[in-house]
Order: sequence, then C-alpha cells, then structure tokens
Amino acid sequence: MKKALITGVSGGLGECLAREYLKGDFQVFGCSRRRTDGVEGLLKEYPGRFFFCEMDVSTEASVKAAAEVIGRNTCSLDVIVNAFGILPPNSAKVLEEFGIDESMQVYNVNALGPLRVAKYFGELLKRGEEKVMVNISSEAGSMATHNHYIIRYDYCMSKAGVNMQSIILQRYWKQDGIKVLAVHPGWMKTSMGGQRAPLEPEDAARGIVELAKRYSHDLEAGIYFDYDGTPRDW
Ligand SMILES: NC(=O)c1ccc[n+]([C@@H]2O[C@H](COP(=O)([O-])OP(=O)(O)OC[C@H]3O[C@@H](n4cnc5c(N)ncnc54)[C@H](OP(=O)(O)O)[C@@H]3O)[C@@H](O)[C@H]2O)c1
Repeated sequence: MKKALITGVSGGLGECLAREYLKGDFQVFGCSRRRTDGVEGLLKEYPGRFFFCEMDVSTEASVKAAAEVIGRNTCSLDVIVNAFGILPPNSAKVLEEFGIDESMQVYNVNALGPLRVAKYFGELLKRGEEKVMVNISSEAGSMATHNHYIIRYDYCMSKAGVNMQSIILQRYWKQDGIKVLAVHPGWMKTSMGGQRAPLEPEDAARGIVELAKRYSHDLEAGIYFDYDGTPRDW
C-alpha cells in the first residue's frame, strides 16, 4: 500500500488532502499541533489506514520526534504534502502599523517548516516509489504575478521563500529521483481563506493529488503550478 504524509492535517486543505489520499487507498500519516474533530473523524472512518501524530513545524525537535514516531510505523513514504501555513492578523497591516518583530513566526512556520519536514522525512521519501514532495505555496509568493498586495509582507516573503526552497531541494534531490512541487492551491473556503473564497478545499485537494501523480518521476518538468495544473511564473 502506498503511503502519504500530510502535514497541516487538522483543518482546511490538509484534511481534504488526507481524505483524497485515503479514498485512493493510501495509508495516510497526518500531522498538526491540534487533534481536531476532523482528525478524530478520520481516525474513526479509516482505522488502521489513518494515523495521527502531533507535530509543530516551528521547531526541529518536534519535527524530528514526529519523524521518529512515523519511522517506527513505516519504512517509506511515497508522497509528502506540506499543507500547513499561518496568516496572522498582523499581516494585514500597512507598513506603518505592521509589527515587524511580531512577524518572525510567519517565516518560521511557512518558510522554515517545509525545510524541517524535508530534513527529517527525506530519508523515508527516498525509500518510497512515487517520491514526490509538494510544498503548498501561494500566488502570494510569485514575483512575476504578484501585482496587487500592498500588505502581507511576511506572508508573501515566506511563500517566496518556499518557492526558492523548492528549487534548491529539487536540484539536491534529483539524484534520488525525488520530484519537488510548489503549488498555489487557489483561494479556498477555509479558516485562512474565509467564506467569500470561490474554491472548495476538496476541489483544490483533488487537483493537487492529481498533480503529484502526474509529475512523479518527471524531474525535468516545472516546479511551480496552480492546483489545476496551470504552470505559474516565478
Ligand atoms: N486558504 C487559501 O485561500 C489559501 C490560498 C493560498 C495558499 N494557501 C496555503 O494553503 C495551505 C493550507 O491553508 P488552509 O487554508 O488549509 O489553512 P487553515 O485552514 O488555516 O489550516 C492551516 C493548517 O496549518 C496547521 N499549522 C499551523 N501552524 C502549524 C505549526 N506550527 N505546526 C504544524 N501545523 C501548523 C494547522 O494545524 P494546527 O493549528 O493544528 O497546528 C492547520 O492544520 C497553507 O500553506 C496556506 O498558506 C491557502
């Protein structure tokens, strides 16, 4: 049975991704800080196929500990999707009101979190068959198509960091046959995206699972895509 690690599984896109992989007969390891009702539901619906492990991506110690727990339950991972992220209210402030020191956690979680996951779960991914890591990025991290924000310094800079990290990792992991993707999931109805968003996270999840499947082993193809497969300019 193939195996997926979904980080940020306690809500929004992460929970939908876990469901999508479970429908597709994967065994799923889900991580987040909270064990929400959504997580409890997955545990009940898919006993023996869905596993939850607490993990806070803002520290190496927590990611290392989670990788050790999961490594005792599987010797490989086919797919990793980093679906966590934060967008605190401070991000919505204009420069004069923006708390710069207060914004450090955004880089720590959004930009450094995926790197911690890569560092501690990379060995399991190298032993998988599909060998795909998907970093959930955003259009907010694109230099080319980023044309309307005058706020969200920290969020946009953190997502640009995820994009750069995905390029470097793809180069580093090429010899191991691992494909790295950076994906804009669309504006989704989640606690981050809000209720005005046009896209259901289930639809984004379906597109992302399809993308991971399509580009598995295609190491020469692009890296940065929208959830529906449209290539995005850096
Ligand atoms: N929603 C949108 O419209 C939109 C648009 C573009 C990009 N994105 C990106 O898509 C991804 C998913 O967003 P979403 O809308 O699903 O957000 P969400 O509903 O707010 O869910 C965020 C997830 O991140 C996890 N998380 C936050 N801090 C964490 C930490 N320190 N350690 C581990 N997990 C942590 C949360 O779990 P815990 O709190 O339990 O830890 C939760 O599961 C994010 O990367 C976001 O930036 C979203």
